[in-house]
Amino acid sequence: MPGDLTALATDLPVWAAPMAGGPSTPALVTAAARAGGLGFLAGGYKTPADLAAQITQVRAEGVPFGVNLFAPNPVPVASDTYRVYARALQPEADRYGLTLPAEPRSEDDDAWDDKIDLLLKSPVPLVSFTFGLPRPGTVRALQEAGSLVAQSVTTPSEALAAAETGADVLIVQAPAAGGHSATLTPDRPLAPVSLPDLVSDVRHTVPLPVIAAGGIATSADTAAALRAGAGAAMVGTVLLRTHESGASTPHKAALADPAFTDTTVTRAFTGRPARALRNRFTDTYEPLAPLGYPALHHLTGPLRKAASAAGDTSLIHLWAGTGYRQARKEPAAQTLTRLAAQHCPSARDSGLRDAQERSSSWRTAAKD
Ligand SMILES: Cc1cc2nc3c(=O)[nH]c(=O)nc-3n(C[C@H](O)[C@H](O)[C@H](O)COP(=O)(O)O)c2cc1C
Repeated sequence: MPGDLTALATDLPVWAAPMAGGPSTPALVTAAARAGGLGFLAGGYKTPADLAAQITQVRAEGVPFGVNLFAPNPVPVASDTYRVYARALQPEADRYGLTLPAEPRSEDDDAWDDKIDLLLKSPVPLVSFTFGLPRPGTVRALQEAGSLVAQSVTTPSEALAAAETGADVLIVQAPAAGGHSATLTPDRPLAPVSLPDLVSDVRHTVPLPVIAAGGIATSADTAAALRAGAGAAMVGTVLLRTHESGASTPHKAALADPAFTDTTVTRAFTGRPARALRNRFTDTYEPLAPLGYPALHHLTGPLRKAASAAGDTSLIHLWAGTGYRQARKEPAAQTLTRLAAQHCPSARDSGLRDAQERSSSWRTAAKD
């Protein structure tokens, strides 16, 4: 049975974005749903068993939720290019007594097949993808299992490609977003565009419901995204310091530290563009870093782990969107409801209904 799009019309139009690497705990996902919104477990980097355990935990709370996966879209790197970068990083690793992997590890697909199998056997209300597009058959199988399928996109042409896979919903991510960009073409610079303009451009291109993400930090930002036609706003960075966030202690501290004055888009940590607080690592290594995912993710992983354990924020990937100054230490529900303060329910509901109607008539026309 296909998923029900009305499930997207949550009472609160502000959702908790998936954040891999620790922040998206079951407690954060549950808090987002209890506040009237929706949250996502972040399946990226986790083993299928760990993801299954988190799904069980949230399901036991009896709330709706989503699961996000990294869809394979590897970015190759030549061995010699990789080695030059690895040699440049080795002095940093020496300070922690680490030997970095000498050869690129590129074959890792983040246990894609096993995670899809898990979601087919144990369906969740909403499944979202970033980095790449799943095959249409995979999208259809998830829908037949009862899930709605969402695809993260960063341009109108990516939105069209997502619609062709059969996705039900678009997560439209602006370049202000913290963490990895969802771009399908990580070798191209992210085009500077405001979130409301991007939402509007996508809605004029593809008649699917849109969830807006990227740089939302105030209730005015939420209102602007909803006015542009989004069914909901989705936030990541502003939740990183909340009580339920599983972000590391140094990451939480850095977000509130006036010594960090800026964010930057960098591939230096993982070989894919991602927005982080500017620190010594981004300043020193972004000019040297090649593209190459997941090879660079595995290259810098041991160093980032050691630096995190030592609280050395000059070397850690401090993912953050442009609105990081608004991240507060408080219950997540408080953040989410504050961000919804200016929203006008009738405008938003008609936006979502309109998107649903346009989407179903478009699909019917496409089948004819
Ligand atoms: C720490 C962190 C981890 C993230 N991990 C993921 C992820 O696993 N999957 C994903 O689709 N997006 C991920 N993102 C992007 C968010 O889902 C979302 O698009 C972004 O946080 C929105 O922009 P904002 O941070 O300005 O609110 C991550 C963002 C952050 C800050």
